[in-house]
Amino acid sequence: MGSTMTVARVGVSLDPALLEKFDSLIKEKGYPSRSEAIGDLLRRAVAEEALETGTGEAIGTLTILYDHHVRGVTERLLHLQHHHISEILSTTHIHVDERSCLEVLIVRGSVRRVKRLAARIAALKGVRHGELVVTPTTT
Ligand code: NI
Repeated sequence: MGSTMTVARVGVSLDPALLEKFDSLIKEKGYPSRSEAIGDLLRRAVAEEALETGTGEAIGTLTILYDHHVRGVTERLLHLQHHHISEILSTTHIHVDERSCLEVLIVRGSVRRVKRLAARIAALKGVRHGELVVTPTTT
């Protein structure tokens, strides 16, 4: 955020006990001000809504853990990734042990397509864990 960003000031009425808890929480987390903390909460709420409804554009990571001994999983993963080249910016593959592979995909694109890619990969036989972490680029 640049210093040229315009801001809107709002007044809100809150339960004093809740505000006290919130203040102690944000102090513990190291926020410099209530405005910063509340801004983060609002951004998270807007981001969650966008992700839930599948609207807008997002960037983030898809982390998967899979067993490459499961027949066909490597080919299916490659096939899916080639089908989604416009959403995948980069991939990193780490051989965890004899059977397990960790892969991190950096993804960017429409939330709908990125979520579809994540769901398809997670549904593959042999993929034990799949976690998509994305943040909107449109808010
Ligand atoms: Ni591997």
